[in-house]
Amino acid sequence: MIDILPIRTQPTTASRLASVDFDHLEFGKAFSDHMFAVDFVNGEWQEAQIVPYGDMAVSPANSALHYGQAIFEGMKAYHQHDGGVALFRPLDNWARLNSSAERMCMPTISEELFMNGLRELLKLDAAWVPSAPGSSLYIRPFMFATDGFIGVRPSETYRFMIFTCPVGLYFNKPLRVRFEQKYVRSAEGGAGYAKNAGNYGAAMYPTKLAQNEGYNQLIWTDASQHQYVEESGTMNAIFVMDGKVVTPALSTSILDGVTRRSVLQLARDMGLTVEERKVGSREVMDALAAGKLEEAFGVGTAATIAPIATIGYEGHDYDLPVTGAQAFSKRVTAALDAIRTGEGADVHNWMVRI
Ligand code: COI
Repeated sequence: MIDILPIRTQPTTASRLASVDFDHLEFGKAFSDHMFAVDFVNGEWQEAQIVPYGDMAVSPANSALHYGQAIFEGMKAYHQHDGGVALFRPLDNWARLNSSAERMCMPTISEELFMNGLRELLKLDAAWVPSAPGSSLYIRPFMFATDGFIGVRPSETYRFMIFTCPVGLYFNKPLRVRFEQKYVRSAEGGAGYAKNAGNYGAAMYPTKLAQNEGYNQLIWTDASQHQYVEESGTMNAIFVMDGKVVTPALSTSILDGVTRRSVLQLARDMGLTVEERKVGSREVMDALAAGKLEEAFGVGTAATIAPIATIGYEGHDYDLPVTGAQAFSKRVTAALDAIRTGEGADVHNWMVRI
């Protein structure tokens, strides 16, 4: 199989590492020295390459640009307590990339090709993994159609790539969010569970309207009744209500988040009751009014665990109680940080060392 060919590597002769201000990292602005790329042609993945990060040429008729056959992942590598580097749950991202690929009529990728590409890229750019608390190396695997053809049909050729960025916190303060009850992110049977580019582009306009009103993100509700929580911006949403950890059940319209899954596992490990079910916007607001909504937060790879301070609902803003040191969101953040940096026991074998 072509998959297991060694990766042709062209190291940079002009590292940009020294030009990056690691004390003031902004999400997604600094890119590490190298990128991984492999093309799918004639029904198979070709020889993979690692080359200096940089622009590339595409046909103006590229079908990803016209019809949106483009998918991506977001994952992270962490500086380890003992000086090494480790990836957090990379196989979960690999599996989700393939599930997105199937939904978008794109070829899947083998575990070997994905993991070899990641490992080699990270070995070459290991010095880019930041070590300050809260920072990490964000990894962006993605795939797009490369046919120069504007007939509407799945492309016959594709490129899979990975680049990385040293990042700090995505949100630096608790969020103001509001329930969205007009626009829809995704409907049951749609492609909301896939990480395809169009889901994000289509969310920008309603999100911008909310941002113009002073909110950071939306909490999307279901497409048919606008009653049930879907997800929040680029994150899954979790609530602590009446002592239980409650989150919308997965469906074809919700992203199966790796952080969501990890937080729910840690909640169960802590002995908490976890409910994955329909969560009504009215239920959340009633719980808040009755003093039973203890916490609400978003969870995602980029956002990590992002506490929600205020929820807008039907034209009014409601503040959540201020959380204490024992809040679940704080305890689970600390537990995840300990696993990710190698300071805590990794009982679920989530970390993969480079
Ligand atoms: C991630 O959390 O990795 C995401 O995909 C969000 C991103 C669009 C910033």
